[in-house]
Amino acid sequence: MTTERSPIITPSAQQSRLLRDTLGQFATGVTVITTQDSEGQPAGMTVNSFNSVSLDPALVLWSIDKQSLGYEAFTTREHFAVHVLRADQQHVSNLFAGRGADKFGQVHWFEGPNGIPRLDECAAYFHCRRVQCIEGGDHTILLGEVLEFASPGGEPLLFHRGRYRALAGD
Ligand SMILES: Cc1cc2nc3c(=O)[nH]c(=O)nc-3n(C[C@H](O)[C@H](O)[C@H](O)COP(=O)(O)O)c2cc1C
Repeated sequence: MTTERSPIITPSAQQSRLLRDTLGQFATGVTVITTQDSEGQPAGMTVNSFNSVSLDPALVLWSIDKQSLGYEAFTTREHFAVHVLRADQQHVSNLFAGRGADKFGQVHWFEGPNGIPRLDECAAYFHCRRVQCIEGGDHTILLGEVLEFASPGGEPLLFHRGRYRALAGD
C-alpha cells in the first residue's frame, strides 16, 4: 500500500480550524462532568478531554474552556464527578454541551458524595477531588484524585472528527 505524504503545517491563528479538525482525528469517549456551584446549584458539561494519568495515586485529568459558564464552579469547588456516557446517551451529551441550558431538569440525577450531582445512568463513574489546576492557554487543566468509582458498563459513546460514533463490533 502506498501512502501520500501530508504537508506539515505549523499552528497559527489562520490554521486554527485545520488544527481543530486534525486534533479531531483522535477518537475519544464522551463524558459529562458535574459539580456544584457556590450557591449549591448543580453544574455540568460535556467533556471529551478526560483522560487517565496515574494508577498509584489514582489521578485523572480534563481541560475546561475558560469561557464556559461552569468555569468558576469547576475551578472553585473541590470535587467533581465524571460520567462516561453510553452509546445510547447521545442526547445527554447534546444536552450538557448546551451553553447555560437547563441541564439537570432533563436527566435523572441525585446528590452524590460532597453534594456533587451524580447521573443515574452512565457506563462508568469517577468521584474526584481536584488536586491541581494547571494553566493551559485558553483552557485550564484540572487534575483530580479518584476517591470512588463504579463501572455499570455498556457500549461507550465515541466522538471522532466532530461526530458521534459507536464501536463497530469486535
Ligand atoms: C463531544 C464534546 C466534547 C466536549 N469537550 C469539552 C472539553 O473537553 N472541555 C470543554 O471546556 N468543553 C468541551 N465541550 C464543550 C462544552 O460541553 C460546552 O461548551 C458547554 O456548553 C459548556 O457548558 P457551560 O458553558 O454551560 O458551562 C465539548 C462538547 C462536546 C459536544
